Amino acid sequence: MTREKKGPFIAGNWKMNLGLGEAAALARAVVEAVPEVGDCAIVLIPPFTAIGAVAGAIDGSAVALGAQDLHWEKKGAYTGEISGPMLVDAGCAYVLVGHSERRQLFGETDETVARKTRAALEAGLSPIVCVGEVLEERDAGRTLARVDDQLAKGLGGLSKEDMERVIVAYEPVWAIGTGRTATPGQAEEVHAHIRDRIRAAYGNEAADCAIILYGGSVKPANSHPLFKEKDIDGFLVGGASLDAGGFVDIAREALRAHREEK
Ligand code: PGA
Repeated sequence: MTREKKGPFIAGNWKMNLGLGEAAALARAVVEAVPEVGDCAIVLIPPFTAIGAVAGAIDGSAVALGAQDLHWEKKGAYTGEISGPMLVDAGCAYVLVGHSERRQLFGETDETVARKTRAALEAGLSPIVCVGEVLEERDAGRTLARVDDQLAKGLGGLSKEDMERVIVAYEPVWAIGTGRTATPGQAEEVHAHIRDRIRAAYGNEAADCAIILYGGSVKPANSHPLFKEKDIDGFLVGGASLDAGGFVDIAREALRAHREEK
């Protein structure tokens, strides 16, 4: 079955922020605004401790739940880790894999990204696999080569059916949490390249329905111009997702661009 691509896909990565009360309140505020941005797919990605509280707050709404990481084994003696089946049990449909903060600060490699992506798929989750270059790689003209390498190692060998459940997030590391956003043109160049790679490996249908997110200092003011680009299907939002009003404005602006001619 081919995935149907709907409106903008907007995910909020709350990172290591918010206690239970704050998380539930933020989730409720997003749920209340959802009818306005009903054509968007909205995913909230709280820290592990708040997954239960957010699951309760979004229950019965169109908002979906994701987690920030998983371990590749299903269970066992892995102190501190959380598995794919546990996330499904807790109500998650999505999981981030290979976020640059995991890669840079916690030793995540392309190899562990590959194992986690497969484990997520096996558990029935949709992995949101993050790729992106650091500033030195961009300055050296190695952006596309780096992204190719991450895609080949992280997603290589997946079946077409698996690939239809994978979401790719392009997040230039130099734009994350820095206030420095990639220009729409810079982002589109990489997004178009990622879609071409999917096309080459899996064919037109898989490429056309692939969801490719941009992440890195997305805010209401840059959502519309970024989303106008042909190959940008949505956003992975960090800092700006901690404010319900700003997060919903990002969705609203993306929807406005979606309704205009791309
Ligand atoms: P940012 O984070 O929006 O705060 O730059 C994006 C991300 O890390 O996914």
